[in-house]
Amino acid sequence: MKAKAEWIEIARLALDKAYVPYSHFPVGACLVTEDGATYQGINIENASFGLTNCAERTAFFKAVSEGNRKFQHLVVAGHTPAPISPCGACRQVMAEFCSPEMPVTLVGDEGVMKETTVGELLPYSFTDKDL
Ligand code: THU
Repeated sequence: MKAKAEWIEIARLALDKAYVPYSHFPVGACLVTEDGATYQGINIENASFGLTNCAERTAFFKAVSEGNRKFQHLVVAGHTPAPISPCGACRQVMAEFCSPEMPVTLVGDEGVMKETTVGELLPYSFTDKDL
């Protein structure tokens, strides 16, 4: 399998692990480090709804907490016909750790795919250069 196809599969397999008792809206992610390691992410909800962590941020926090800071690709998968668009909080976390050129692949259930980048998702972002 080609690398990207594997990463998409990893993101899709994560969907079954999503903890979504409130929204019933699973999201899966696969974050790929510069050296090719993959980190799966799922959304993790809470009875206190605002504490929910999205799949993308789960993947980033897992990877960064294990010492990774350089990434080459992110895949986000939904159980939706069309690809899911990452939320604003997750876009900000992407901007913290990824170059604007880093590719992001968004996939839905029906093979519809959107290829985008971190910079396209969050142009003119607030970063360490603003501090
Ligand atoms: N969600 C994600 O995990 N990632 C996104 O990009 C959009 C939204 C989650 C949060 C919540 O658990 C559910 O989807 C519905 O908002």
